[in-house]
Amino acid sequence: MGSKGLEGIVAARTTLSHVYGEEGRLVYGGYEIEDLAENASFEEVCHLLWFGELPSRAGLEDLKAKLARDAVVDERVLDLVRAAPREAHPMSTLRTAVSALGLVDPDAEDMSAGANLRKSIRLTAQAVTVTAAIDRLRNGKEALAPRAGLSLAANLLYMLHGEVPEALAERIIDAALIVHAEHGMNASTFAARVTAATLSDLHSATTSAIGTLKGPLHGGANEQVMRMLLEIPDPEAAGPYVRGKLERGEKIMGFGHRVYRTTDPRAPILKRLAEELIRRGGNTRWLQISDRIQETMREEMARKGKPIYPNVDFFSASVYYTLGIPLDLFTNVFACARMAGWTAHVMEQYSDNRLIRPASEYVGPRGRKVRPIEERA
Ligand code: ACO
Repeated sequence: MGSKGLEGIVAARTTLSHVYGEEGRLVYGGYEIEDLAENASFEEVCHLLWFGELPSRAGLEDLKAKLARDAVVDERVLDLVRAAPREAHPMSTLRTAVSALGLVDPDAEDMSAGANLRKSIRLTAQAVTVTAAIDRLRNGKEALAPRAGLSLAANLLYMLHGEVPEALAERIIDAALIVHAEHGMNASTFAARVTAATLSDLHSATTSAIGTLKGPLHGGANEQVMRMLLEIPDPEAAGPYVRGKLERGEKIMGFGHRVYRTTDPRAPILKRLAEELIRRGGNTRWLQISDRIQETMREEMARKGKPIYPNVDFFSASVYYTLGIPLDLFTNVFACARMAGWTAHVMEQYSDNRLIRPASEYVGPRGRKVRPIEERA
C-alpha cells in the first residue's frame, strides 16, 4: 500500500506555488513569500495566481475595480445567511453561502475559461462580504455593503466593524491574506481539484474546499490556538499546560506540518505583525504565552527526538484576536485568502484535466455467501 495520508504522493503538476519543506520556504509563481508579504498587496497576489504574473499598474486597477464591483452579494444569499441559526459555525454558513452563490451566479454552469475567471474573481470578493455579513447578521445587525475604493483587507474589517480600519490594521490583514492565499497540494486544495477533475463547476469545487478547510487539523487550527491561549491564565502556566496535554497524548494546535521539517516560513511573518501590533499598544500577553508554549514544545519534542515547529496558525490567531475578529471567524478569514488559491488550482486543473481517482487496498472479508435473513445473527 502507498503511504497513509498520501504523504509524498504527487497528485498534480502546478505552476502556482511550491513548498520547500526541508528549507522552510514557500514560493508563489517564483516569488518568495517574504518578498510578497512585504512588497505586494493581496490583490496583486490574486493577479499572480490567476494570470501567472504580477500586474502592471493598469492591470491592478482593472482587477481592483472588478473585485469591488463583484464583492456585492445577492440578497437571496444574504437571506440564507440571515436564516442560519445563531449558533451555526461561521465556516458552515460560509460553505452554505458559497454553494448558494452558485445558484445565482450569471456564469454558474458556463465552463469556459472566461467564465471561470469571472467566477474566481467574484467568489474571492464575495467570500469577504459573506464572512463579514455572517458575523453582523448573527448579532442582529444589518450587513454592510462593501465600500468602493477599499482593498479586500480593509473592506473585511470595515464590513465587520462598521469603521474604515487604520492603515496598520489593513496592512496586517492584507499580509495575512497574502500568506494564506496558496500552499501547494494542501488538503482543501486537493479537495477542490478532486471535485473539479470530475468537470463539476467552480462553486462545487470551492464548496468542497471550504468543508475540508474547516477541520481542526487544517484551517480550523487557528480558532483552536486562540482557545488554548485563552485557557492559559498566564505565561508561567503555559509550560505545565503544554506538558499536561502531551502527556495525555493530545496535540498542541498550531504546531506540526505534513511538509515543513522546520519552521513554517509564514509563522515568523505573522509573528512580526503580532509584534508590530504590540508596539502600537496591543496586549503583550498572547505573545508571552505563545513564546512559552513554543519553548516548551521545543524542549519536549527535542526530548522525544521528534522536533515539531509552529505553523502559520500559531501566530495568526492572536493577530486576528487583537484586531477584534471574533474567534470562530478566524477560519473564515483563512478561507477568504485561500479562495484565490483554490480558484487558481481549479482553473489549472480544468486546463489539463484527468479524473482524480486513486485506488484503495481491500482488507475486508472475502468469499462470503448471502444467507436467508432468519439465519443471520
Ligand atoms: N502536537 C503534538 N504532537 C504532534 C503535533 C502537535 N501539534 N503534530 C504532530 N505531532 C506528533 C504526532 O502525534 C506524531 O507522533 P507519533 O509519531 O508518536 O504518532 C508525529 O508528531 C507525526 O505527526 P503526524 O500526525 O503523523 O503528522 P501529519 O503529517 O499526519 O499531520 C498535522 C500534520 C495534521 C498538521 C499535525 O501536525 C497536527 O495535527 N497539528 C495540529 C493541528 C494544526 O496546527 N493544524 C494546522 C496545520 S497548517 C494548516 O493547515 C494551515
